[in-house]
Formats: sequence, structure tokens, C-alpha cells
Amino acid sequence: MTTYWKVTAGNPDPAIIAEAAVVLQQGGVVAFPTETVYGLGADARQTEAVQQIFTAKGRPSDNPLIVHIANRSQLEELTLPPDEAVSRLLDAFWPGPLTVVLPARPGVLSPLVTAGLSTVGLRMPDHPVALQLIAAAGCPVAAPSANRSGRPSPTHAEHVLEDLTGRIDAIVDGGSTGVGLESTVVEYAAAGPEEAGGRGVLHILRPGGITAAQLREALPGVEVRESSAHAEPAAAPRSPGMKYTHYAPRGVMTLVQGDAPERVLARIQRELDAARARGERTGALTFREHADALRADRVVACGSLGDLESVAQGLYAALREFDEAGISFILAETCPEEGIGAAIMNRLRKAAGDRVIEA
Ligand code: TXA
Ligand code: MG
Repeated sequence: MTTYWKVTAGNPDPAIIAEAAVVLQQGGVVAFPTETVYGLGADARQTEAVQQIFTAKGRPSDNPLIVHIANRSQLEELTLPPDEAVSRLLDAFWPGPLTVVLPARPGVLSPLVTAGLSTVGLRMPDHPVALQLIAAAGCPVAAPSANRSGRPSPTHAEHVLEDLTGRIDAIVDGGSTGVGLESTVVEYAAAGPEEAGGRGVLHILRPGGITAAQLREALPGVEVRESSAHAEPAAAPRSPGMKYTHYAPRGVMTLVQGDAPERVLARIQRELDAARARGERTGALTFREHADALRADRVVACGSLGDLESVAQGLYAALREFDEAGISFILAETCPEEGIGAAIMNRLRKAAGDRVIEA
């Protein structure tokens, strides 16, 4: 049985938060909204509780979980005093969609959380429900996205219910999430003596809600490196989660990219028509500006090209729409990789299993 609670995102009922916190304290798993996507939380110190996250999601156990805190004072329990550059990052972006990978204090977290690594990804979410729940539970909360593994991440409580009803103890419904894509995951390396200029390097392990430009602005004097997911050796990725096909709709999706929008749209239409003639149920993932230009069994306009934040917000719900409509063949437009566009394109490539057509 999954208990369902509805709360007001900005001002959740303290009685409900208290009940949900007790479920966490007693080793249960609770889905809750954050500003990025819904998380599936458990007390990060209780191995049996964390095991339930992996079981409910069907998640591979070599993929570590992000640990959520509500208060900077919780850092001390979980990691060593952070480097000065890291402190500046936390000052600038917490609470917010930034996960920082730090050395884990041995013996505190369940080994399932770190998947055997000596580091832990920590984040303070910027959402009243998440913050109040974590504070009330009084423990660090391990929480991956609250979807079945391989499905698009949940940005509405309905997505969580679709995937996990009956598989988790409870869900706190706080309406739709804000950013729509997961947090940016970073790891800081202090400059080694061999490194020219003596600059520290901040590696972006997963692009997300905080952009590379924002990180550079907050850390002048630090080199911010955007690691390409493609360049990473599959055997030893820095961020283990990046090697799995994530976020995928059930239909086969292909991206179509090119400099001239008319050519891209014409190519998409040709491929859609051919697929339909083969008996596929066709879908097109596009933007508000181009929605009228395409014909398919399902055309989904995901936000506006003029406002990439709106694309990020709507992306996962859009991917789920194709599943609901039983779409077997999907073509998707791409967007510029600027700002949040880098994270959007990262997720789109994964959803498409790296299938890209140049138009
Ligand atoms: O926005 C988010 O971050 C959401 C919400 C719920 O907070 N959470 C989320 O968690 O996306 P999850 O578990 O689905 O993603 C964890 C990502 C994976 O790519 C994983 O490989 C990486 O963070 N990660 C976690 N711990 C790590 C570590 N110690 N070193 C490197 N990467 C780590
Ligand atoms: Mg996830």
C-alpha cells in the first residue's frame, strides 16, 4: 500500500510532513517533490531502507545515490571540511539544483548509497516540502529520481504514481516541479603541483539545473570543465549513472539536427511519413514555434525555443506523452547547447540512445 498525501508546495501541512518523516525514520521510502524532479527518499544511514529504493526503482546497484540535506550543519556528519572553492559554490547555489561530490566520512552512510566509492554526492534542494521533510526526519536522505529505472524522471506526482504505486510506502504530492531536469553534478579537484597556473578544476559530471556559465561566474580562477558524456570511457565513468540509458520513452527516438530549421522540419516530416507507411505509430517532439509545421500521430510541443527553461520543464512529461499514446517511432528536434540547453541536449541524446540524423 502506498500512502498518498497532497500538500501545498509553498506551505505544506506540518502534520503531514511529520507523518512522512516518521516513515523515513522507520526505514520506509517516501517520494517527495524537489525543485528539479521528484525524489524517492530513504534514510541514507539505513541499508535496508536504501535497499528498498533500489528494489522499487529496479536500479542497478553500482549507481550511487545523491544524499539530500536540509542544513549546512549536516555536512560535518557526512564529509570532511570542504575546500574553500567548494564552500563558495555552496554559498552561491545551495539550496539549489547543484550536487557536489565530496569525500565521504567513513562508516556513516550505508555502503549502498555510495556504491562502494569513497565519495558521496550531496545536495540541498530548494523546495519547502523537501527541506521540511528532511529537517523533520533529522537524517541525511538518499534520493534518486522517483521513477522506474530507465523511464523519464517524474516532474509531476502522477508520474511517480504511474511508476511506483504499490512499490513504495508513501508519496507527498506537492504539484509539479520547477526546473524539470535533475541537478548539475560537480566534483572539485584542487590544483596539483603539476598543473600549470595552479588552478583548481571543477568537473561537471552531469549537466543540469545550474549552468556552466553560472559556475564560472561563481568561481573565477577555477577552470570549469564540461565533460562530454561521449568522451567518457564506458568502463570507468566518473559519474556512474551517466553510462545507463536513462530518460527513455518506450518508442525508438531519433534526434534530427541541422543549421536550417526548414531543412530539419522537412527531414523530420519525410522520416515520419516513411515510418507511418511502414505501420509505425509516429511521434514528433518539437517546440511551440514549429508545432504547426509537423504531422504525426502525436505532435508534442515541448516549451518554446525562445525560452529554454520552459523546454527543460516540459521535457520529461513530453517523453511520457508518447508512451501514453503508444507511439513506436519518435523524431525530435534539438536545441542550442547554451545555458540549460546543455542539460536538455544531454538528456535528449540519452533518450535517443545517441541516434542522431544530420539534416
Ligand atoms: O535533481 C536531482 O539530482 C535528483 C533529485 C531527486 O534531487 N536526484 C537525482 O538522483 O537525479 P539520481 O540518483 O537519479 O542521480 C545521481 C547521479 C548519477 O548520475 C550518479 O552517477 C551521480 O549522481 N553520483 C552520485 N554519487 C556520485 C559520486 N559519489 N561520484 C560521482 N557521481 C555520483
Ligand atoms: Mg534518475
